[in-house]
Amino acid sequence: MTTTPTTLNGSMEKPIYLDYNATTPLDPEVLSEMLPFLKEEFGNASSSSHPYGWAANMAVKKARKQVADAIGCEPKEIIWTSGATESNNMAIIGLVRSFLPEKTHIITANTEHKAVLQVFEMAEELGAEITVLPVNEQGQVSVEQVVAALKPHTRLVSLMMANNEIGTLHPIFEIGKMLQEKNILFHTDAAQALGKIPIDLKTLPVDMLSMSGHKIYGPKGVGALYIRKQNPPITLKPLICGGEQEGGLRPGTLNVPGIVGIGTAVDIASKKMTEESTRLTKLRDQLITRVLKNCRGAILNGHPTERLPNNASFSFEGLSADVFALGLSGLALSSGSACTSASGKPSHVITAIGRPECLARATIRVGLGRMTTDKDIETAGDKILAMIEKNSKISNI
Ligand SMILES: Cc1ncc(COP(=O)(O)O)c(C=O)c1O
Repeated sequence: MTTTPTTLNGSMEKPIYLDYNATTPLDPEVLSEMLPFLKEEFGNASSSSHPYGWAANMAVKKARKQVADAIGCEPKEIIWTSGATESNNMAIIGLVRSFLPEKTHIITANTEHKAVLQVFEMAEELGAEITVLPVNEQGQVSVEQVVAALKPHTRLVSLMMANNEIGTLHPIFEIGKMLQEKNILFHTDAAQALGKIPIDLKTLPVDMLSMSGHKIYGPKGVGALYIRKQNPPITLKPLICGGEQEGGLRPGTLNVPGIVGIGTAVDIASKKMTEESTRLTKLRDQLITRVLKNCRGAILNGHPTERLPNNASFSFEGLSADVFALGLSGLALSSGSACTSASGKPSHVITAIGRPECLARATIRVGLGRMTTDKDIETAGDKILAMIEKNSKISNI
């Protein structure tokens, strides 16, 4: 459940936005780069015979280079999509379909976003054999676990770079290295990691990587998939057909304003990353220390150090209901992932790290971002502590 964006207990004041893992506001600089392509530069990027098309085509080229530069790959290795959900589908189903009807085994973990877990279910329906690994209580899988799950016909391992609910980072480098030595392909969903932690595909042994515009202050409805083109090139079967765009892998007229938006957003995020991550890590840790120190029943979900700079997830022992029903108002944050919240079920991620259902329900995710100030985090701490004090006897403040 998320707080309503407009009113708060009858007042017109908006809550403090702390849901940056769900989505981010559009950067004004991104908007101003996009605007000409929503107005006068409306050309189709595939129109090669006039200046309208040329302008659109050049803008797409520039954005492809911006994304490629940010992650250390070649522009030709970037395919535009509608977001990380589509990128994950393209990578996993596209690869599975290119192997079938040969025996095909694929591996993932049980804390993945539904945009991977449900894709694995679909791959199974298509005839693939799937393994969904359990994570440890900090939300990680180990290299040894992946090695133990491999079969002679394992074609792909897909593990997220950073978890959207608890912020945990998997040991992607070590797992990728091991898979590379065994010639098994490795896909990572980097929707949450992009722009927050360094990604350099010149050294990171990853074959396919999913990205999303709206998690990095870019527009919604646009994303990208990196597909390694060398040693050896990866062949995917397209999910849809009907044109030659993106080498026939993703046909359909390109979303030029969106592509310009994600290109600019990635560029800005890369430039700001070091400074912003340091700032947010400090604020995140202040909040974590304060909550854990002052609420005896509070538990931090996820890894204590191997986590996103902008994420703090807490469960509260002794709380009997949803935190928002218990009066945590004034903060726009999530009680699970935005996607899970809509279903009303306890989060599959929180239960996967071993929390019982009641604890999974008494969980909040605080997602920090560019607009988050020191004062916001102080207020968030005040409100969380006040809610705990009011609703249980476990707080010692
Ligand atoms: C880890 C992860 N993967 C995939 C997605 C889906 O991304 P998109 O909204 O771009 O399809 C999200 C968004 O919540 C996410 O956090």
